[in-house]
Amino acid sequence: MRKHIVAGNWKMNTTVPEGVELAKAVVAKSVEVPSDVELIIGTPFTHLYPVNEVVAGTRVALSAENCADHAKGAYTGEISVDMLTSVGCQYTILGHSERRQYYGETDEKLVEKTKLALAAGLKVILCVGENLEEREANKHFDVCKAQTVNVLKNFTAEDMKNVVIAYEPVWAIGTGKTATAEQAQEIHAFIRKTLADLFGAEVADQVSILYGGSCKPSNAKELFACPDIDGGLIGGAALKADDFIGIALSF
Ligand code: PGA
Repeated sequence: MRKHIVAGNWKMNTTVPEGVELAKAVVAKSVEVPSDVELIIGTPFTHLYPVNEVVAGTRVALSAENCADHAKGAYTGEISVDMLTSVGCQYTILGHSERRQYYGETDEKLVEKTKLALAAGLKVILCVGENLEEREANKHFDVCKAQTVNVLKNFTAEDMKNVVIAYEPVWAIGTGKTATAEQAQEIHAFIRKTLADLFGAEVADQVSILYGGSCKPSNAKELFACPDIDGGLIGGAALKADDFIGIALSF
């Protein structure tokens, strides 16, 4: 059975005190969620230490939103994987479309980041997804396949135990426009087939593939009912504990 996961991506939102309050509210409400659903919150770097104080020992796991592509040294402004584990991080999101689009994140850099993260004992939530132009040109399969293969061809079936994929169509992120359940299921099944070609069907069957892009309590049920959608990576709706938990109650 694949793991069901609901992961929050706070992006560059909330101050530290606001983030701590939000984390407390998520932990308080997490008791309502069936224990087979894994809950993760991804916070800005500044929040990780104090938010870990809130979530440590609870069922809520902590994620970063990025990490450096070098282990340590003269990389001003960067945050290493060892820094992340030292403040209690269990996960890091990598390859989010906002990082690809605004900060020049390439598949090559993602290979380095993923290697460092896995070696440090972090689990990786690797994001893939096409933009509107690519979707309209019917290139979404090619784009998602390339993003998946370019990074994951460098890893083993064993590594895949610690990798989660998030399919996030860029045109659905923060726009209020959600992919239909059919559109999402179609591409999730395609990504799983891509994983099967790389690692075999048995491994592909164990990898959780999350949907991201304007996921909210009102549409999560339909999305999560699809056979290849194993949960969500949640942006805007993760900033309200009720909405985040509402999504987690949608399996
Ligand atoms: P959204 O963001 O839920 O606000 O659309 C999702 C994401 O970018 O991870």
